[in-house]
Amino acid sequence: MNEFACEVRNGLRKPRKELPSKYLYDELGSALFEAITVLPEYGLTRADQRVLEKCAPEIAPAFPVIAEFGSGSGRKARVIVEALAPDRYYPIDFSAAALERCRRELQGLAQIEPIEASYLNGLDRIPRDDGALLILFLGSTIGNFDPRCRGDFLRQLRSRLRPGDALLIGFDLIKPLDTMLEAYDDPCGVTASFNLNLLGRIDRELGGDFDLRAFAHEARYDHSLNRIEMHLRSRIDQRVTIRDAEFECFFRAGETIWTESSHKFDAAEIPEIARQAGFEPEAQWIDREWPFAENLWRAA
Ligand code: AVI
Repeated sequence: MNEFACEVRNGLRKPRKELPSKYLYDELGSALFEAITVLPEYGLTRADQRVLEKCAPEIAPAFPVIAEFGSGSGRKARVIVEALAPDRYYPIDFSAAALERCRRELQGLAQIEPIEASYLNGLDRIPRDDGALLILFLGSTIGNFDPRCRGDFLRQLRSRLRPGDALLIGFDLIKPLDTMLEAYDDPCGVTASFNLNLLGRIDRELGGDFDLRAFAHEARYDHSLNRIEMHLRSRIDQRVTIRDAEFECFFRAGETIWTESSHKFDAAEIPEIARQAGFEPEAQWIDREWPFAENLWRAA
């Protein structure tokens, strides 16, 4: 049984059913996410872009090597790569198609060395012979980690860096409740499609028989944990079979599958997150239009 099938089976067996958010991004899911980034209600990507334009000229061009976690097509990194003019840029992503687009898009700005891998495995593949490394982790993807995994991930990342290396990392900030809920439950239903596609992917890739019309997208905010949660709510009592996971699952009407968390942060807590992972927080830039913080952390 492949890893996807195992994780689906394990997640749907839990008392509180869940599915790992990384599986939202197949080809269709990635296209739907791209559409989310241009929705009027989802200001995060535009804020990230504005703040990158502001901070790029302020970062010393002292990094011959830049790597990016989750580069996608390289759109986010362009302004930094243009400003810092590294010798080599290593986009790290799961998607070969996105990496190919990235290579085409950023051609000529640096030597582009795409790595198709998970973030830390990708980082381990970068040859470390020539100067300081800057890692880009943009778009508040760090907010999709739960706090314990976030700490572990940042510490593991820090342990792979050398003094002088740095991390440029984006965090989406807490904003009014309505703004946050609309961003994850837009009136066009793009985010709903993005979420429901996870069940579609299980049907396509694992021989599932989810009826997507029998589930409804739901976005809620947990005030105690400062996070948006995406769920899929079963509209009826139903039974679903997933052939390749050798698994049958029952849903009561109203029961949900938790598919993603998007943590939101207070700008003042971010330097402490850096220190706890062993980084030295060096600078922070904030977009006021859509509260979002870009942070430069140094491996001291
Ligand atoms: C990729 N990540 C930062 C997005 C977010 O805002 O958490 C994923 C997303 N999920 C729903 N809309 C966007």
